[in-house]
Amino acid sequence: MEALDKILGIKYSVILAPMFLVTNEQMVEIAVKSGITAAIPAMNFRNSEHITDFITGLKEKTIGPFGINIIANRSNTKLQQQLEATLKNPPAFIITSLGNPREIIKQAHDKGVKVFCDVTDLKFAQKVEHLGADAIIAVNSQAGGHSGTIPRDELLKKIISECNIPVINAGGVANSDELKDVLNAGAAGASVGTVFIASKEC
Ligand SMILES: Cc1cc2nc3c(=O)[nH]c(=O)nc-3n(C[C@H](O)[C@H](O)[C@H](O)COP(=O)(O)O)c2cc1C
Repeated sequence: MEALDKILGIKYSVILAPMFLVTNEQMVEIAVKSGITAAIPAMNFRNSEHITDFITGLKEKTIGPFGINIIANRSNTKLQQQLEATLKNPPAFIITSLGNPREIIKQAHDKGVKVFCDVTDLKFAQKVEHLGADAIIAVNSQAGGHSGTIPRDELLKKIISECNIPVINAGGVANSDELKDVLNAGAAGASVGTVFIASKEC
């Protein structure tokens, strides 16, 4: 299975994870310049036009890929505006969380944007694979924020053995040894949040 560095053309297979009201524009910029990638929640912007402005501004400052995180369930009443604003000047990828990502995948793929979907169990992983997701983000019980219920190694093994698209680990990775552990277990990369809260930019 192709690793994240090859999928996105980056140096290290790590995503600075989207964190509601935590991941900020400076963090994304520094992450991309450092050779990883990053995603920021669409919800972190006061209105949808700011999403387009952010993407346009960052594309002018960096050459690396980055993404926008969109909540895909009904609690997100701004979903359609956020998706349109994201796809106006598209980033490299979208991370979906919760809900059914069918429409996001369809519209993103029409614009050549990859879609990585957060899941917490095999059933949801198979669902998003079937819908055409480009990668699965396996959110385990060690993840901060919207965590899953299944421990890291168990969830990775379960999803990697049953799915045929890249699987990115989320949760339980905060240093290089833990990154190596999940890569050795067959993950395509790691989405890492909590440890970056200690960064100067945050
Ligand atoms: C403070 C905080 C806020 C988060 N907010 C979001 C969010 O808005 N959307 C989302 O998909 N995941 C969110 N997450 C989950 C992260 O994207 C990621 O899966 C998680 O941080 C990985 O685990 P780690 O924190 O142990 O590295 C959040 C995590 C944290 C710690």
